[in-house]
Amino acid sequence: MYLLIPAAGVGKRMGSDRNKLLLEVRSQTIIAWTLLAAQAAQEITWIGIISQPTDWPDFQSILANLQLTKPVELIIGGATRQESVYNGLQALPEAAEQVLIHDGARCLATPDLLNSCAQAIRHCSGLIAAVPVKDTIKVVDEDGIIQSTPDRRNLWAAQTPQGFNVELLKKCHAEGVSQGWEVTDDAALFEKCGIEVQIVEGEETNLKITTPQDLAIAEFILSSRFNS
Ligand code: CTP
Ligand code: MG
Repeated sequence: MYLLIPAAGVGKRMGSDRNKLLLEVRSQTIIAWTLLAAQAAQEITWIGIISQPTDWPDFQSILANLQLTKPVELIIGGATRQESVYNGLQALPEAAEQVLIHDGARCLATPDLLNSCAQAIRHCSGLIAAVPVKDTIKVVDEDGIIQSTPDRRNLWAAQTPQGFNVELLKKCHAEGVSQGWEVTDDAALFEKCGIEVQIVEGEETNLKITTPQDLAIAEFILSSRFNS
């Protein structure tokens, strides 16, 4: 299975002066943890890291240290995640029929989750890992007034990996460009094009490292996982 890793952000909410994926948790950069999970997932056979060329010297030295046994390519990122994935799709080898897209910032996803998404995408057009929301979610207007309370049983928090049929995803991205859609994940493009996207049960620990507080939580999760 082909895996694209969007890793071209700047990490504004982290408040760091560089790509947050280059910050360390338990003596390993965030992107390195993500790559180690991809390496451990047997289903993954090819990895494309979508990233800004200014970060390439750092990524190259991380790759040199990790010595992954799978082919890895660096692909030039875009100004938004959507543009980055678009670039990634263009750089996929011809043979790719399905693709998994997994955020570099979700360094806690397990190899098992990557494997099960890779297996499942062979039998459907689109899927995302997601978990049921635990909080009651409110729809609120600009004045801070609650408009409605959606039934929690229908609410899931989207994660990555997300998996897609490559041809369909390319079409949806092209449609997104021509219609000017701005989305924060690829499933949203499928939804807008009216193509079914399935849910795969994700992992509570599969958080997206976004703020400094997430670094501390990731440290805790990795420590309990590796028990030292
Ligand atoms: N990403 C990307 N290209 C962009 C923006 C984001 O490939 N132009 C990637 C990030 O590197 C990350 C993933 O998309 O792995 C999810 O994005 P997010 O968590 O929002 O990361 P950043 O955009 O870096 O953070 P922020 O929004 O706080 O600036
Ligand atoms: Mg962002």
